[in-house]
Amino acid sequence: MIKPSIATPVITIDGPTASGKGTIAQRVALALGWHVLDSGALYRLAAWAVLDRNADANDIDQVALLARRMDVTFAGPQTFMSGKDVTEMIRQEHVGDLASRLAPHPALREALLDRQRAFRENPGLVADGRDMGTVVFPDAPLKVFLTADVHARSARRCHQLRERGECPDEQAVFLDLQKRDERDMQRTVAPLKPADDAHALDSSALTVEQTVEHVLELWRVSLAKAKHLL
Ligand code: DC
Repeated sequence: MIKPSIATPVITIDGPTASGKGTIAQRVALALGWHVLDSGALYRLAAWAVLDRNADANDIDQVALLARRMDVTFAGPQTFMSGKDVTEMIRQEHVGDLASRLAPHPALREALLDRQRAFRENPGLVADGRDMGTVVFPDAPLKVFLTADVHARSARRCHQLRERGECPDEQAVFLDLQKRDERDMQRTVAPLKPADDAHALDSSALTVEQTVEHVLELWRVSLAKAKHLL
């Protein structure tokens, strides 16, 4: 494994499903000219690998092996597995649901750890997920915990699904989000929770632009503090 440079800065953006962290991470990375890691995509890819091969999702060693061996390429907004474009497939609700059910298993989390850390490259990385600030990049100089109330998130998720031509059952989406939040927060390994040094940011009443600006401002402040300490 290539050791990540300790000097390479990371901004972690953790939060619950549909809190908008993916969009915010992409925009912050674009503004700074940094790399981006959508760690949820890796869990979705592992779930997709299980479904695609008809593997036994209960055989967690087999799942972890599949996750370790999967041949994944991220090319801008597209995601490829073994050369096949799986961008749309891994965004399906049932794939996200399986990802959330597989994610509590330490063997799978361990299998994905080095892959996630390898994204840490100069000039910097914006990483979004559930445990970016607590487990994967505990030394990140800026950690954001992005929340939004479950109604706002549910409305956003339905909007995304409609944009994809789907016709979501709003009540089912709402209940599914609640179920997933509970599962992500209550698991014993790397649960969804803010790192002790994370900045909480509630985006329920903020636009994407306002949220991005807030994160960029936090980054400017943290840079200024670091310079002051030098
Ligand atoms: O962010 P997402 O909805 O695409 O993630 C899909 C699932 O993967 C989520 O329900 C929990 C899991 N996940 C995780 O356990 N840890 C991460 N860092 C990212 C995602």
